[in-house]
Amino acid sequence: MSLALPAHPGPIGVFDSGYGGLTILSEIRKLLPEYDYIYLGDNARTPYGTRSFDIVYEFTLQAVHRLFELGCHLVILACNTASAKALRSIQMRDLPMLDPGRRVLGVIRPTVEYIGHLTQSRHIGVLGTVGTIKSESYVLEVRKLFPDIQVVGQACPMWVPLVEYNEAHSEGADYFVRKYIDALLKQDSRIDTVILGCTHYPLLLPKIKKYMPADITIVSQGELVAESLRDYLLRHPEMDVFCTRTAHCTYYTTESEEKFAESASIFLNKSIEVHHLDLNE
Ligand code: DGL
Repeated sequence: MSLALPAHPGPIGVFDSGYGGLTILSEIRKLLPEYDYIYLGDNARTPYGTRSFDIVYEFTLQAVHRLFELGCHLVILACNTASAKALRSIQMRDLPMLDPGRRVLGVIRPTVEYIGHLTQSRHIGVLGTVGTIKSESYVLEVRKLFPDIQVVGQACPMWVPLVEYNEAHSEGADYFVRKYIDALLKQDSRIDTVILGCTHYPLLLPKIKKYMPADITIVSQGELVAESLRDYLLRHPEMDVFCTRTAHCTYYTTESEEKFAESASIFLNKSIEVHHLDLNE
């Protein structure tokens, strides 16, 4: 990989395996509209949720490197699966070599920091992809920050396809939404807080609310990740000066531009201009 990275300020990079990170990006842009952003969706190689550690790490590193080349000094891994399987290795192993002045942040730590102060029963549930749940990243992070909290996880492998195929509001979706919620609650009846640990899941929120008992708090990540980014930029002025502010957002996909633009409208409720890029080059 080339180490000739641009030194001048640039946009904030937001990476996801596909469309899901758009739910995070829109909350970030609501809270921090003055900054510039580049969104990169690896749609050609999605889903990441069922892939091995090595592959998710390799794909995520390629994406981070490309976002650095495009001028980003700060990259948010909006994807839970990439945060679970690649973030730590990139922070520890790759960043010092690529450019120690750049930063890559994930979504798991801010989510855990947030729920730690929210749960009363100290029993929480996490809904996520097979990869995120199997990685036990949430369990480990909770154990580190709030050792008194019990965590159970439930993989929901059908939820991402339901969203991607625009079936989130169909009658068929009810079966799978209920199935995974029931399976989660069966593991621990004292859960009072449930994390939607996948960027796609907020699009299933109406159905999730229908089947989740009303006294359980459902936590979506968009707003809390946005707040945590705002805090980060306030605490790190040396990084903030490397983030440009013309309120512009550029979208890249590794798949076809037309397909991305069409599906992105499900997530953003507006039409956007998209560029193609190849991460294998
Ligand atoms: N965006 C991913 C996440 O938040 C889910 C989609 C996938 O499996 O690639 O975990």
